[in-house]
Amino acid sequence: MTKPFPLLALLAGALLSGCGEDGTDPVKPDEPVAAAPTPYNLTLPSNFPQPEAQPADNPLTVEGVALGRQLFYEQALSVDNTVSCGSCHRQELAFTDGLPRARGVNQALSPRSAMSLANLLWEPKLNWDGAAASLETQARIPIENPVEMHQSLAAGVARLRQMPAYPPLYRKAFGENALTEANTLKALAQFERTLISGNSRFDKFQRGDRTALSPDELQGLRLFITHPDGRNRGGNCGDCHSGDLQTNHTFSNNGLDVAPADRGLGAITNQPTDNGKFRVPSLRNIALTAPYMHDGRFQTLEQVVDHYNEHVALNSPTIDPLLLNTTNDPRQQSTKLELTATEKAQIVAFLHTLTDTDFTKDPRFSRPQP
Ligand code: HEC
Ligand code: HEC
Repeated sequence: MTKPFPLLALLAGALLSGCGEDGTDPVKPDEPVAAAPTPYNLTLPSNFPQPEAQPADNPLTVEGVALGRQLFYEQALSVDNTVSCGSCHRQELAFTDGLPRARGVNQALSPRSAMSLANLLWEPKLNWDGAAASLETQARIPIENPVEMHQSLAAGVARLRQMPAYPPLYRKAFGENALTEANTLKALAQFERTLISGNSRFDKFQRGDRTALSPDELQGLRLFITHPDGRNRGGNCGDCHSGDLQTNHTFSNNGLDVAPADRGLGAITNQPTDNGKFRVPSLRNIALTAPYMHDGRFQTLEQVVDHYNEHVALNSPTIDPLLLNTTNDPRQQSTKLELTATEKAQIVAFLHTLTDTDFTKDPRFSRPQP
């Protein structure tokens, strides 16, 4: 069912150095050397593609992942000690928060909805707008963002140095004098790379268990992956939410508004042609991650399917062409998808098969016990 991923394990060899990472405080021969960290053996679902290349200077280790997990649930990284990554990314909700828009310190309101954290090994660009290209870079954003944790990483690290638990954990993971900003980001990234969700009923079906989906769910899958063409009926979803990861990893305007208030990718690239484009999110565990879209505007999956069926803002300037001329109207004349009520319900039934409770209950991902 799963296969080992030797690359990351191999890279772990690069980590073993006798010096503190910034070259200070070389270990003297008569001092005990911190034991080398143990490579973390990541197993990947056999139905998944090869992941993106990961940073060679941050191989997964058992100790690094354990530290990252501790940091993920650490409220001292927020200015008033009330918010951790885990406040907005709750395991039981597939690492979302159940809110339309996230709330940080002092109830500050983020302009966007918290994203699910799963299968990040496969994402080349992170955040709704692609603002970060690695998990190491991404992790600084919520820590320092005024509407999230609102504390400089330097101040957070200074606090961790005063807490008895952390210096030994950093030492085990990264060697001497390792309680640094860079290693804090690395450890968080390591933990996040282990968050793999690949055991939903859809995955079991993809791995060959033909009984994993009911007839209605299977019909929902067929509609989901089919682009309607007058002969074959379809919902067109798989044009963007494609493959076993349920995303083509691109940015797209899916027609939420004629004039998008949030520029999304356009604010990052400064290209007007990117305005209103957002990451095509994976739909894994989607039944657990309401409300939906970057601004949490839809409460239910039924509302989402209604959006694609009949409310797409076709005249939005950067609308994705995949949403144009896409209809089940036998004469191919309607501007709407024209799914029947039964077909909509079958697509929603299929979306529910993407829930992976092994992932949401995995004890390796939960808040560590003190
Ligand atoms: C206040 C709530 C909040 C907190 C605290 C928070 N996040 Fe997030 N997270 C969000 C929101 C909102 C987004 C979407 C941001 C955007 O697109 O602008 C997000 C997006 C992400 C993503 C991108 C996922 C993807 O698929 O692209 C990652 C990774 C992530 N957060 C990790 C973290 C880590 C690590 C921490 C702690 C250091 C953290 N978050 C703290 C709300 C939060
Ligand atoms: C042209 C590409 C495209 C097509 C086709 C498409 N989507 Fe999406 N989908 C997106 C993008 C982009 C987003 C994120 C938009 C945003 O938040 O601004 C999204 C978001 C979603 C979300 C919300 C995800 C979340 O985490 O909040 C759901 C659910 C969803 N789509 C389901 C579907 C279904 C069901 C279909 C078929 C009926 C479909 N999509 C067709 C591009 C597409």
